[in-house]
Amino acid sequence: MYRNASDIWPPRFERVPTEESWVDSTIDQAARAYDAVKHHTWYQNLRPTLDALAAISQDGDIVVDYSAGTGIFTEEFLRSYPDKEIGLVLVDASPKFLRLALEKFKSDDRTAYRRLCYLKDERRLQQLEEVLPESLRDRGIDGLCSTNAVHLYDDLGAALRSWAKILRTGGYVLIQSGNIDNPNAPSGSWFIDHTVERLQSEARELVTSDPTYAAFRDGFDDAERTKSYDCLRQSYFLPIRPLDFYVESLRDAGFAVDSIDAQPVEALVAEWSDFLCAYHEGVLGWAGGCSRVEGKDPSEQLIELRKRLLCESMAKLFNDEPSFQACWTHIRCSKK
Ligand SMILES: C[S@@+](CC[C@H](N)C(=O)[O-])C[C@H]1O[C@@H](n2cnc3c(N)ncnc32)[C@H](O)[C@@H]1O
Repeated sequence: MYRNASDIWPPRFERVPTEESWVDSTIDQAARAYDAVKHHTWYQNLRPTLDALAAISQDGDIVVDYSAGTGIFTEEFLRSYPDKEIGLVLVDASPKFLRLALEKFKSDDRTAYRRLCYLKDERRLQQLEEVLPESLRDRGIDGLCSTNAVHLYDDLGAALRSWAKILRTGGYVLIQSGNIDNPNAPSGSWFIDHTVERLQSEARELVTSDPTYAAFRDGFDDAERTKSYDCLRQSYFLPIRPLDFYVESLRDAGFAVDSIDAQPVEALVAEWSDFLCAYHEGVLGWAGGCSRVEGKDPSEQLIELRKRLLCESMAKLFNDEPSFQACWTHIRCSKK
């Protein structure tokens, strides 16, 4: 048992990088809005990873919460396992999300924070080993979790190699995502972002048949315009990659893949639609247009109508059922 949680860290380790400007910035409302997703039924997807981390970690371990976002995973871990004395280093590319995480638990000595900056000249995100101090790199990290994020890593190999560099031999990695094309998914379950693609034909049908959405018929049959919005959508919701791609990339980076599970997760249609409304431009940008394609944004009124179309199309996709089943893939590995 650790007398004091701060004993977990190497001497002179700075939990909060106080010289970085994001640390003192005002809290962003979009980050707060994102954080509310923790109350959604489908965020039960974290439970298996929370329990697995509690079971596998030893007091005194240092674990990276990679792509921590607003810190929902760490928050749930500290709430579920208040007596665990492990150090959690929250790492993320978004200073706005990390700022909110800092606000939530900066007084908890078990937490530390590091931001991955985008290096414009090199056109890449910093790697994990570039943002951790020598003292931590020399000690080696005991474990790493990545929840609801791995499908967003465009250079997956680079991210995994950076994890391998800072993990001690035998160190554990717990990854999960609802956007891995897993052949063992329970039948009838969804990879959750696939709903965005399937929504398109429902929305087009509504725009064609329902006068409420007549304002969205402009440019409806313009193939070039449709293609631009397809590309925009794919920049928000990356095409889902197969499980094999993750497994091979993990092995190439020096990990043994110890287990792979496909778990069903119930998602309420209304909550999922509500979540997607924050990304309305990416989901249904063609309905009303947007500046990235047309050079100007639609009115607030049209944006509200677009969100209504999104919710109605989603309800139609699921035949007005209140919920659907999604599939979350959990991959557990260890550093060889
Ligand atoms: C959906 S959030 C997940 C946050 C948290 N882990 C959770 O489960 O709620 C995805 C996070 O991944 C981060 N992210 C996106 N692309 C990334 C990348 N290439 N490398 C590292 N993090 C990335 C984002 O900044 C965001 O905070």
